[in-house]
Amino acid sequence: MRARGARALRRGALLLPLALTALALLLLPRPQPLAAPSRLPSRLPSPPPTTRDYARLQVTESEEVLVRDGNEVPQREWFLRGGEQRPRRHDPKAKVFPEDAPGDDRIYEQLMYTLPDDENVPIKKILLANGLGAWGVSGGRNEFIRNKCPVDRCILTADTREAATADAILFKDHHTPFNVKRPLNQIWILYYLECPYHTASLRPSSLDVFNWTATYRRDSDIVAPYERWLYYDPHITEKDLDRNYAANKTKKVAWFVSNCHARNRRLQYARQLAKYISVDIYGACGSRHCPRADPNCLEMLDNDYKFYLAFENSNCRDYITEKFFVNGLQHNVLPIVMGARPSEYAAVAPHNSYVHVEEFAGAEELAAYLHRLDEDDTLYNSYFKWKGTGEFINTYFFCRVCAMVHANAQRQRSAHYADVQAWWREAACTRNEWRSAGRD
Ligand SMILES: *[C@@H]1O[C@H](CO)[C@@H](O)[C@H](O)[C@H]1NC(C)=O
Ligand SMILES: *[C@@H]1O[C@H](CO)[C@@H](O)[C@H](O)[C@H]1NC(C)=O
Repeated sequence: MRARGARALRRGALLLPLALTALALLLLPRPQPLAAPSRLPSRLPSPPPTTRDYARLQVTESEEVLVRDGNEVPQREWFLRGGEQRPRRHDPKAKVFPEDAPGDDRIYEQLMYTLPDDENVPIKKILLANGLGAWGVSGGRNEFIRNKCPVDRCILTADTREAATADAILFKDHHTPFNVKRPLNQIWILYYLECPYHTASLRPSSLDVFNWTATYRRDSDIVAPYERWLYYDPHITEKDLDRNYAANKTKKVAWFVSNCHARNRRLQYARQLAKYISVDIYGACGSRHCPRADPNCLEMLDNDYKFYLAFENSNCRDYITEKFFVNGLQHNVLPIVMGARPSEYAAVAPHNSYVHVEEFAGAEELAAYLHRLDEDDTLYNSYFKWKGTGEFINTYFFCRVCAMVHANAQRQRSAHYADVQAWWREAACTRNEWRSAGRD
């Protein structure tokens, strides 16, 4: 128990800077994608869970437990809190590539991939074309050893003189060509953090050079979501509540927002909604202010507000950010979402954890439903039953890159995008609602 308490304390110490960072990101004008390496650590790796979440987790009786040093340890996968279970053996048919499991993000399979243990598999060299700092990692094998990756036989380098001998080159947001001959088996990976509206176009000569993509999109080769929810048991998506999430809340809808000119016209929608239900808009686009460094801002979501507008700045395929996962789901508030399609939220969100604006004909109808939820505590609480049935996991991006580079070699697989720009942009975003046909 002592170890667990110490861990909870350490997490607590991590919580405050994280909350401040999240708040600063909320209230600051949105940084340009390139000038934003500070946003990376929040995804790569994912932020540690909060103390509150940790306390909420309970081992259910049906789970297998290990008893060690008198403590019961749940038999969970290594990337879950307290998890110890490592991949047991190499599976040559592991579904780690897009063609193996269309529509699936394959993150679980990638994290549970391991190499054949009877062979001395050579170390793979991964060159980070934008430097180590752009990723917040150190060179060599550190990143793989430190994170106890099941596949750790990789090194990271930022030395472009090694471009001719690297097994893979990871390009972040841009393609920066090297003046060396590209080896036949070298894998070029294009990483995007932002949505297509906020990424630069590639030169025509760069369109057909990439083998893999790594983005938040679920059809990327390496899916890098803002957060990844994982149930402990996929059959248990709800549990009984031990509290009333409506208790003591006196306010209706809150929104923290600083970019008032988003392409999806979310501000216009929020103003429309405000005609029918009370909407408190904090930040540059509204009349309310909450000082950037004040942790009470996000706490208001836990204590005072019933609903939070987790509106993305763009309606793009699979584009669901920490606005939903962190500000919304990781507080005791019901997120109202706008951004990706309803089906795309359904694919990644915990069961019954949000309300999508496109479930309603318009703002007036949505407001009517929110009033109904406001009056019916049982119905309101039904949106919180997912809590405690799983975790937002660290998806160990570099562990998975290493695993994938090895898996590709094991399979002698080859793939490339004939036009990566078309893949990234065509039919990816809309300025309108998804249900109306118009796209751009
Ligand atoms: C609501 O307020 C009461 C009185 O201040 C307090 O005892 C109770 O714990 C609060 N409930 C919740 C769910 O915060
Ligand atoms: C990578 O893509 C290039 C074309 O851009 C192709 O010639 C090469 O075979 C691909 N390699 C792998 C390992 O997929």
